[in-house]
Amino acid sequence: MRLPVYLLASACLAAPTTAPALDWAGLQPLAAVASVQRTAAGLDLICADGATVHVSVLAPDLIRVRALFAGQPASLDHSWAIARTDWAAPPWHFAETATELSLTTAAVKVVIQRDPLLIAFHDAVTGRVINADARPMARDPATGRLAAAKHFGFEEHFYGLGEKAARLDKRRGRFVMWNSDTPGYVEGRDPIYQSIPFYLGWEEGRAYGLFYDNTYRTTFDLGHTGQDYAAFGADGGELNYYFFAGPSLKQIVSRYTELTGRMPLPPLWALGHQQSRYSYYPDTVVEKVAEQYRARDLPLDVLYLDIHYMDAYRVFTWDRTRFPDPSGLMKRLAEKGLRVVTIVDPGVKYQPPVPGAIDPATDRDLASSHESYYVYNEGLAGDYFLRQKDGSLYIGEVWPGQSVFVDYTRADARQWWGEGHRALTERGVAGIWTDMNEPADFLDQTGERHKDIVFDDLGQRAPYAKHRNTFALLMARATYEGLEQLQPDRRPFVITRAGSAGIQRYAVKWTGDNNATFDSLALNIPMFASLGISGQAFVGADIPGFIGRGDGELLARAYQMATFVPFCRNHSAIDQYDKEPWRFGSYYEGIVRKYLKLRYRMLPFLYTTLEEAHRTGVPLFRPLLLNFQEDYNTVNLDDQFMIGDALLAAPVVRAGERAREVYFPAGRWYEFETGAIIRGGTTLRVDAPLDHMPLYVRGGSIVPSTIAMNYTDEKPWNPLRFDIYPDDAGTANGSLYEDDGHSPDYKHGAWRRTTLHFANGQLTLTPTGTHAPGVRNFAIVLHRAAAVQQVLVDGVALEASAWTRAADHSLTVALADNGRARQLEFR
Ligand code: GLC
Repeated sequence: MRLPVYLLASACLAAPTTAPALDWAGLQPLAAVASVQRTAAGLDLICADGATVHVSVLAPDLIRVRALFAGQPASLDHSWAIARTDWAAPPWHFAETATELSLTTAAVKVVIQRDPLLIAFHDAVTGRVINADARPMARDPATGRLAAAKHFGFEEHFYGLGEKAARLDKRRGRFVMWNSDTPGYVEGRDPIYQSIPFYLGWEEGRAYGLFYDNTYRTTFDLGHTGQDYAAFGADGGELNYYFFAGPSLKQIVSRYTELTGRMPLPPLWALGHQQSRYSYYPDTVVEKVAEQYRARDLPLDVLYLDIHYMDAYRVFTWDRTRFPDPSGLMKRLAEKGLRVVTIVDPGVKYQPPVPGAIDPATDRDLASSHESYYVYNEGLAGDYFLRQKDGSLYIGEVWPGQSVFVDYTRADARQWWGEGHRALTERGVAGIWTDMNEPADFLDQTGERHKDIVFDDLGQRAPYAKHRNTFALLMARATYEGLEQLQPDRRPFVITRAGSAGIQRYAVKWTGDNNATFDSLALNIPMFASLGISGQAFVGADIPGFIGRGDGELLARAYQMATFVPFCRNHSAIDQYDKEPWRFGSYYEGIVRKYLKLRYRMLPFLYTTLEEAHRTGVPLFRPLLLNFQEDYNTVNLDDQFMIGDALLAAPVVRAGERAREVYFPAGRWYEFETGAIIRGGTTLRVDAPLDHMPLYVRGGSIVPSTIAMNYTDEKPWNPLRFDIYPDDAGTANGSLYEDDGHSPDYKHGAWRRTTLHFANGQLTLTPTGTHAPGVRNFAIVLHRAAAVQQVLVDGVALEASAWTRAADHSLTVALADNGRARQLEFR
């Protein structure tokens, strides 16, 4: 029997690897600056060897450096990663001396030493050097390899780089960008699925960012090889990077996502709990899972169909034996409040038609494709499939056997692929799961066999070396844009495994074939945190792990963490033990239920934080460093995390552990379940029995929540609860974001934001925006309110019966939402 390929692969891929060092041999540095030209956007440095370096000002804190070496072949100034190109250069001024040139904005002073050509970024206000070249940028004219090196600070720490099976702080690490299908990866395995060549540097509380906009195989060496430099380089393309002056980490992430695009708002149900397995079939099994969920009072919004729903893995078809009536199935599930997401793989079965066979004109997705497969036929007719230099079709091997792949750099191919999803949306499918998009190929996972593939790339006929890493981005783009066209009244929901910079514009991300182990669970925190500060705000991992059996303890701990992870999906591999919440018995199921109910209660908070990520790029799931940038204790803290500004979670990530250390940054913290106050600026050992995840609220927060429910549109958010947790000064702030949860109308102003401010015993609640949520009530909960004797609403004292006290010293006021601004006074 043939073993599942992921297991065969995992045997050889799971071991840690170290990326090869950047090789400086053969690299020729840029020559000295011979002359300079001032342009509207910045400076063009002309070097003695004929090279040109463009230094452009995009924003006061955003500078682009693009070096074109002597003899380097010309290429279009185009990047698939970039979302915004229409920057208007802000005011800047130029100065020069015999040895230096400089360009200064309100935020940054770029100092260019003429000979050798070295660029340094200074803080324009304080003069502090933020980041400086350690060597001139260099290129090997024989191979096209490129490299740049920066000084490496004694206390410089590094973050970002997207999806890496590595710890939060990337200091001393070396990483490669080359999208790879790596089932069963463990910490240290590199590269894995995604390539995001963006990092943040931090030193003494101040940060900067650097986005190396290059999709070739790229290496980052962050103080690993040399003691005095941090370097990056690529096998080809350009030395073209964007420098973010900071100093705020949030501001850098915000700018980076302005440049490469932000996550559009997914539908509200994307925050619901999701259940998958490789694979649920036939349809009766899918319905049994749905029934179990509802009978057991376990929340669930989404069920997944993995590759077995297709007719012999042919994309955009249905297996009629297993799924005789997909539309009927979808309808029955919808009656239970459930939606379906189907997997779509990029490999199109290579299947020249049997002579004489023709495709039916309608319902082609439901018809047998054994003699003629409409997707292959159409793709070939449109010439959408990737070809090699000699013009032959590239044929690889994935689930359907021999397969061909689409050239998504072509707009017409993307349009065709997007339209192909009609076979799924017409049957009622709500979202698309794009997988195997590294792209995986069972014949060769390294890319070596693919090197002769040519991509159209806007007519440039670009090599595979440039486009392996963009493949998933452009497939996700085709999928997203296709869903937008097919269902203009709904927000697309696309999930991806692979990706490159900009992927957040089209897809949310899950971290692929992880292991059902505590090590893998622990790795989730640095992985999600790093993805978040690299622009991907909506992330998650298979709960409790794809490969391996796991047990009840792991399941309970995995769900505790997942309570506050944006993408919350249970999934398991084909030949692995079942992992639905009830599979390890009622004790563990009870813990899972408790935390899933909590997640649904917290939907108003999660959705508000999601909207913030959409609007600003600052992620939901945060390393503490992002909120406490000046606190050195957080530079490598990655076994606890925050959700937005308000919640601090410290999940247990080790087997058998029933207590753990938690670091509390300075300030006041509240224990979530008891309301007990903790003084920050310390590390405490706290109890964590198996049914409990240590969870805290930062003093100064106002947190919206609602009632528990079993799916996101089961009930309206009524009553809406606001928990006020004052800080030491007695103040607190918060907000609630609402819209219809499913349409793109939010893009045109159909939303409502309620801003809450508490100070001196007074709460003001101010709604803005046009969305009308309907009749409902508020429950306003003030914590540590033992001294309060009287409550006034809009100046009128409430009867004592309108408010209640609880044993945790909180006080709850019930009042109707009249749609207008309100004022409450606690005396
Ligand atoms: C890949 C995916 C996994 C999926 C499987 C079958 O291994 O990562 O999630 O279940 O393929 O489609």
